[in-house]
Amino acid sequence: MSFRTIEWRDNKVVMIDQTRLPGEEIYNEYSDFKSVAEAIRGMVIRGAPAIGVAAAMGVALGACDIVADTYDSFFRQLCNVCDILAKTRPTAVNLFWAIERMKRVAEANRDKKLDMIREILKKEAICVEEEDLAICKAIGRHGATLVKDKATILTHCNAGGLATAGYGTALGVVRAAHETGKSIQVFADETRPWLQGARLTAWELMKDNIPVTLISDNMAGWFMKKGEIDLCVVGADRIAANGDTANKIGTYSVAVLARENDIPFYVAAPTSTFDLAIESGDDIPIEERHSREVTHLQGYPVAPEGIRVRNPAFDVTPARYITGIITEKGVVTGDYNRQLRRLVDK
Ligand code: MRU
Repeated sequence: MSFRTIEWRDNKVVMIDQTRLPGEEIYNEYSDFKSVAEAIRGMVIRGAPAIGVAAAMGVALGACDIVADTYDSFFRQLCNVCDILAKTRPTAVNLFWAIERMKRVAEANRDKKLDMIREILKKEAICVEEEDLAICKAIGRHGATLVKDKATILTHCNAGGLATAGYGTALGVVRAAHETGKSIQVFADETRPWLQGARLTAWELMKDNIPVTLISDNMAGWFMKKGEIDLCVVGADRIAANGDTANKIGTYSVAVLARENDIPFYVAAPTSTFDLAIESGDDIPIEERHSREVTHLQGYPVAPEGIRVRNPAFDVTPARYITGIITEKGVVTGDYNRQLRRLVDK
């Protein structure tokens, strides 16, 4: 990869600052868990798998700073660290998945010296990052089989290397198809209001010389109707047991337009994005973000002062619109209730 989203370096967490892209490629260093929590909340790092990695590293940083004589006191304080990290963003389940994984590792090693537990947690966080990269590559391999030579792929938001430990989920499929020599191109929705498509997807694909064309969100349907889009591939923040999928606001519209125009619509996500405890998308918590993201563009007002605003950051695409879910363990189509459980047990 031509950039690094997040890494553990010399007992610090280093992240590319996604609030500054594409203008500046700046790497921030974090040495305490509270500033990692702030980075997640403020979208320095974003994208479901990437915030999972950041949370795991945040827990490991927090563990280093805990002063305790006993395991019980250590674990109580570690739970407090976890609670603070868990309150940063509500929708992407990978955040909670990673935090739970770190807690379980601490518990499984409770009989060890505290310094040893701190070391084990650090290794586990690095492992979450390394595994995510391998998972994205596997998603890419499975997804690439669905992409024909000369295909034009529409994507929404950024489900790329920047949203993961590297390589990406939806963009992992794109990268893998490109690497196998297929002559593909991407149409990137700009993704109002935070512009993940314009600022991040466009940036990372251009950096890797993958052909990309930027469109505003309201152009997607027109290009589909004109026959210029062959398939849609998007990421996911949480997938309920029945396959309903929460992803960046606007994904639902893309899925409905794809159905209307007979275009396959795929979701690419690791199985850590499944939340099988939730039966349907109706129960997925949807983050509402600050109105300023809608009223301002890069600090400039684009709406009258005082206007009432709604700003849900995600929507839920009902499973019936999803042609298939591409995971690291393979592609599932239809009967998601049974298939998703089967995949998790695989
Ligand atoms: O608000 P964001 O930028 O964190 O939202 C990100 C998305 O919706 C992505 O599509 C999703 O997390 C999948 S990332 C591989």
